[in-house]
Amino acid sequence: MKNILITGGAGYIGSHTAVALVESGYTPIIIDDFSNSEKSVLNGLKNILGKDVKTYIGDCNDKGLVQTIFKENKIDGVIHFAASKAVGESTKIPLKYYSNNIGSLLVMLEVMKEFGVKNIVFSSSCTVYGQPDELPVLETTPRKEAESPYGNTKKICEDILHDDAKSKSGVKVVALRYFNPIGAHPSAEIGELPIGVPANLIPFVTQTAAGIREKITVFGDDYDTKDGSCVRDYIHVLDLADAHVKSLEYLEKQEDNFVDIFNVGTGNGNTVLEVIQAFEKVSGRNLNYEIGSRRAGDIEKVWANTDKVKNTLGWDPKFSLEDSLRDSWNWQKKLSGI
Ligand SMILES: NC(=O)c1ccc[n+]([C@@H]2O[C@H](COP(=O)([O-])OP(=O)(O)OC[C@H]3O[C@@H](n4cnc5c(N)ncnc54)[C@H](O)[C@@H]3O)[C@@H](O)[C@H]2O)c1
Repeated sequence: MKNILITGGAGYIGSHTAVALVESGYTPIIIDDFSNSEKSVLNGLKNILGKDVKTYIGDCNDKGLVQTIFKENKIDGVIHFAASKAVGESTKIPLKYYSNNIGSLLVMLEVMKEFGVKNIVFSSSCTVYGQPDELPVLETTPRKEAESPYGNTKKICEDILHDDAKSKSGVKVVALRYFNPIGAHPSAEIGELPIGVPANLIPFVTQTAAGIREKITVFGDDYDTKDGSCVRDYIHVLDLADAHVKSLEYLEKQEDNFVDIFNVGTGNGNTVLEVIQAFEKVSGRNLNYEIGSRRAGDIEKVWANTDKVKNTLGWDPKFSLEDSLRDSWNWQKKLSGI
């Protein structure tokens, strides 16, 4: 029974990964300051798993607290989700993003070294590619200048991990570049809990269907795509969670100072309008939407080449876009009491 510390484990992807870890025989231990999540997530986890997940409430920039966790538990690996993630906010208060996202990784690496813990899986993002020159995007596709301070923190954190391994610290790293995680646990016990007006498409779609929002604005229908709206690679959060478990298994087989990077997406791109149509079909509800102007900072299209993650980790996504949208909708219905 290996103990895995999941920073930000009460968040959207972290909570689903906690479930995947338990199902694979690991024991997750959460640290979360609940800056972007709610304590009710812990009840949802308990309802799914039939037991509590050990949780430390606090900031993983607090080195003393992180050291206490490592002292009180034999930690075998870390999955570092904790970060501030609102792209728009990061352009207004960039220092919060540099401080939280980079600071927390530095603390984690320092304490891991102190306690001889080597394995870390890091949450990176396809945002590091910007608008890639080639599609589907490969892990070797050059990263572009970041469009936002948030995106820049992901690039910098990847570089920090590379430099730490290069210095022969002993660390072993997998960085997963997530494409667009959507969906929820099929039990509807946990899911995405956006605070305020959602910046992502799917919570906006489900909240509109539930009557919380009046309408969806599709930001631009004049892009060079099949229907003019932006294209993204939407991946079910449970498939993404599974990629973390497979990454830990992979890291256990590697030598010290090892770094690898994987795209985690389905390999398929869908337009915003296709997602809206698929949601209408799955939910049986008509969505009120309008076409608006392009949104600053949006890239036109991106989807993953997933050959590497499939061939190396033996990972394959199991859920379709429709499955993901059905689970997101069931989660919204539960939240809204529909
Ligand atoms: N959701 C996406 O679309 C997406 C895409 C690419 C990458 N990512 C990355 O994946 C990771 C997880 O994303 P998510 O969607 O689950 O986000 P989330 O906000 O739901 O989860 C992050 C969790 O970390 C916690 N947290 C933040 N700073 C903390 C700190 N200093 N100490 C302790 N806890 C802290 C928050 O309270 C939250 O529970 C993040 O690093 C994010 O940047 C997310």
